[in-house]
Amino acid sequence: MKIGIPLEIMTGEGRVPLTPEACSELVDAGHPVFIQENAGINSGYSDQEYRSIGAQTVSSSDELYKSAQLIVKVKQPLHQDIASLGSDHILFSYLHLAADAALVETLCDIGVTAIPFESVVDESGQLPLLRPMSQVAGRIAAIRGASLLFRNRGGRGILLGGIDGAETGRVVVLGAGTAGSHALASAVALGARVDVVDLNEEKLAALKSQYPDIETHLSTAGVIEELCLEADLVVGAVLVAGRRAPIVLKQSVIEKMKQGSVIVDISIDQGGCVENIKTTSSENLCYTDHGVIHSAVPNMPATVARTSSQSLSSAILPYVLQLAGSELAVMAASESVQERALFQAIAVQSGSVVDKVLQDEIKKQ
Ligand SMILES: NC(=O)c1ccc[n+]([C@@H]2O[C@H](COP(=O)([O-])OP(=O)(O)OC[C@H]3O[C@@H](n4cnc5c(N)ncnc54)[C@H](O)[C@@H]3O)[C@@H](O)[C@H]2O)c1
Repeated sequence: MKIGIPLEIMTGEGRVPLTPEACSELVDAGHPVFIQENAGINSGYSDQEYRSIGAQTVSSSDELYKSAQLIVKVKQPLHQDIASLGSDHILFSYLHLAADAALVETLCDIGVTAIPFESVVDESGQLPLLRPMSQVAGRIAAIRGASLLFRNRGGRGILLGGIDGAETGRVVVLGAGTAGSHALASAVALGARVDVVDLNEEKLAALKSQYPDIETHLSTAGVIEELCLEADLVVGAVLVAGRRAPIVLKQSVIEKMKQGSVIVDISIDQGGCVENIKTTSSENLCYTDHGVIHSAVPNMPATVARTSSQSLSSAILPYVLQLAGSELAVMAASESVQERALFQAIAVQSGSVVDKVLQDEIKKQ
């Protein structure tokens, strides 16, 4: 099957979903790879590197979409991608459809088959294609939050890592999954005092045994309010797979938080877990509301495009090889959990929403 890799056009993007090394495996397996010119450039991969392994570079988005059936992207399609997508395409990328009913409708109108990376579930019930970018986003959240606390960024002038004779900065992490645990790891490394909140006692216990100095809490509205009122930095990292993010930090709490404190909502791609939060970008990183700095960038890992592209590429390559080498109908009946996972992850096909959880979420909107 012909594989196409368009240039990412979302603000601040620079990631490419497959590195030249990964493309080389696809080409060796007999799958022609087409890549839009400069798609890898901001991750440090030149067009020449792609051509040297046998991929073909094309100059326009339109030509790219005409050349290939399997479209592998990083972020959801935007205007020029949407104009070029057709019903023969299989779209494999992050889509976060539960937070974007308009995109669901557009994909249905086009008739494309859309398989969100974040809907692929592995043998252990984990989300192997969300995990790499959640790791990166978590790491970035703590570092970004720490820098927004500087006075020159509008913050309350706190160095998170305590210094002799001064108070230690306080970080609250909402969600102890992949993004939350990586945010926590960075915050601990910076020397902050960290509290983490989740509904899952096992995850909290595992983190406590790994980081004995943190405090863990079961998630309730009261606990979140109490912790956030003391926090310098709050990181939002909750997820209920396939659904719009639950709102765990209420506006009424934000209004009482410390002036110059910071919220980084990683869950913004699923609609955000902070009430009324607005999407920001790498160009307009944050805004201030009720004296609290809010940052909610839906493509945080693009900031470290090369690291992110390498990590994403390794995670998706086995799945791209399967998609390119087999029919979706065959995968449905496969004995391989990995092959069935791809079929089960289909969100939209032939004009209909086929994912039951997504159907439910769309009905609510
Ligand atoms: N902004 C970005 O650039 C970016 C990048 C990667 C991932 N993400 C997003 O980060 C979010 C988290 O992803 P993840 O991979 O860490 O998910 P995960 O499933 O590993 O972790 C989510 C955690 O949230 C917990 N949770 C659910 N409801 C809760 C509640 N009411 N209170 C407290 N905890 C609750 C779950 O128990 C789970 O431990 C997702 O929305 C994902 O799409 C964003």
